[in-house]
Amino acid sequence: MAGDKVMMGLDIGSSWVRAVIGSVSKDGTVMIDSICERPSEGVRSGAIVNIEQTLKSINSVITEAELQAGTEIQQVIVGIGGNHIEGIPSQGVVGINAKDQEIKREDIFRSLEVARAFELPLDREILHTLVQDFRVDGRDGIKDPVDMLGHRLESRVLVVTGSSSICQNERKCIQRAGFQVQRMVVQQIADSESVLSIEEKEMGTILINIGGGVTNMIVYANGSPIYVGGVNLGGSHVTNDVAFILNKPKVIAEQVKCDFGNCHIPSVGNEESVLIPQIGGLPSIRMPKKELSKIIEPRMAEIFSLLQVELEKKQIRGSFGGGVVLVGGGALLSGATELASEIFRLSSRIGFPEALHGLDRSFINPKYSTVLGLLMYEAKRFRETNAGTSQKPDNAKHSAGFGKKVKGFFKTLF
Ligand SMILES: Nc1ncnc2c1ncn2[C@@H]1O[C@H](COP(=O)(O)OP(=O)(O)OP(=O)(O)O)[C@@H](O)[C@H]1O
Ligand SMILES: [Mg+2]
Repeated sequence: MAGDKVMMGLDIGSSWVRAVIGSVSKDGTVMIDSICERPSEGVRSGAIVNIEQTLKSINSVITEAELQAGTEIQQVIVGIGGNHIEGIPSQGVVGINAKDQEIKREDIFRSLEVARAFELPLDREILHTLVQDFRVDGRDGIKDPVDMLGHRLESRVLVVTGSSSICQNERKCIQRAGFQVQRMVVQQIADSESVLSIEEKEMGTILINIGGGVTNMIVYANGSPIYVGGVNLGGSHVTNDVAFILNKPKVIAEQVKCDFGNCHIPSVGNEESVLIPQIGGLPSIRMPKKELSKIIEPRMAEIFSLLQVELEKKQIRGSFGGGVVLVGGGALLSGATELASEIFRLSSRIGFPEALHGLDRSFINPKYSTVLGLLMYEAKRFRETNAGTSQKPDNAKHSAGFGKKVKGFFKTLF
């Protein structure tokens, strides 16, 4: 359709590389044209460690996505995750110079520039500046200060940074595959775009993506992100534990974990048993399901506990009415919500990406939250920019559209 913007989201994970092609129309409707995945190679703990191997996975998944969608793509919106991603809280204070003391868009920009202007180590780069709120003359919690009167404007932001070399390797890999990086989006932000409601962000929610090699986390309070980070442990470490203790190849361990694993020992009955396949045509052997859980639970508990310690270290406290939301392939492990509830002492649920036009039901699965979120993030930016630019030059309307645009700009531009 004329005016539609075609986009591609690319999630280079430790276990899978996923691509989605979709379009956003001027009225803001997102339409999915294709979504594909391929086993990932050359990626460890969310970072590319072998460009040649990753290049092959990327090329294969993009070619398939393009074929399915019947379109060619030049630019990609790529996700980035891992424990190198860090959210740093910062403030920027500026004086209001105008005679009428009215806060203008430029004042907000200045305050954001000040908030971003801290000394950054050479090997770090800023990926997002997420606005939390503003303070005008000591009044807290202002979400949009444009047109308000005041002498002193303070912006409170979360500056999300990442390792420059890891980001550069990802950009390089995509460029070598023949594509341009339209935007690099932190995976946690993409996840929240596809899974969390505005209410959950307002009530306070901890969103955790348990992937293959990393577990990413983002925390919202009062509608704004207050923490972004993660640990370099994920579902593949659980699989490795099963393989090591049962002395089985990883493929069998993975199958056993997905089919029979449960990471919450109290949820498993004493009488339950599972069949462990053998290699070389030998008959399967039976083992108590509880014994399998005893292998799996410690690693999952370690992941959640490390995240909890991170939150305590950063003094992230408060009432999280939205509880814990789990996404990523690892969220599919039985008992994950029960264990998360126990460790965080909060209610817990599995997060499913929002249903979109053209998206087959089978993809409404926590595994696809990041790749779909990348597309939704870009679609939101497109909508917000469009909402601002499509206003007619009628004065009243113009200022309303302008305000809307600025608001969206602050939420997502950086
Ligand atoms: N049904 C299931 N039960 C248990 N675990 C599962 C299930 N399905 C997938 N997983 C696990 O999910 C993990 C992969 O998750 P995901 O596809 O989200 O990772 P990724 O995005 O490729 O990696 P990362 O985000 O760490 O870079 C694997 O460890 C896999 O074992
Ligand atoms: Mg992932």
